[in-house]
Amino acid sequence: MAYSDKVIDHYENPRNVGSLDKSEDEVGTGIVGAPACGDVMKLQIRVEDDVITDAKFKTYGCGSAIASSSLVTEWVKGMKIGDAMQIKNSQIAEELSLPPVKIHCSVLAEDAIKAAIADYQKKHGASE
Ligand code: FES
Ligand code: FES
Repeated sequence: MAYSDKVIDHYENPRNVGSLDKSEDEVGTGIVGAPACGDVMKLQIRVEDDVITDAKFKTYGCGSAIASSSLVTEWVKGMKIGDAMQIKNSQIAEELSLPPVKIHCSVLAEDAIKAAIADYQKKHGASE
């Protein structure tokens, strides 16, 4: 199976790899696993005044999972958390031209950003 150019680009030059300090109040951390293959993705955001000002990820997984998380960290920077909640895996899959067997890799990225936002909101006492 051939990877699309965009997947290869993000895989070879992943954006925003790294970690934020998860003990910080402004940081939300999401860690999710893909039941289909056992891959794991950690995605973190820094939020100031409801806007995501930074995002980092570490992904132990396939090229599509790495590309999906790299893309999502690029997308969410500068977004309001309410808008970042709306990101759909189908948008990621479309942008990266993922084939059907790799759709779950983009689901992982959607789950990871949602989990990071939920963690941030929990720290700040928001009820859902
Ligand atoms: Fe896990 Fe893709 S199946 S690396
Ligand atoms: Fe499992 Fe990509 S995350 S194959």
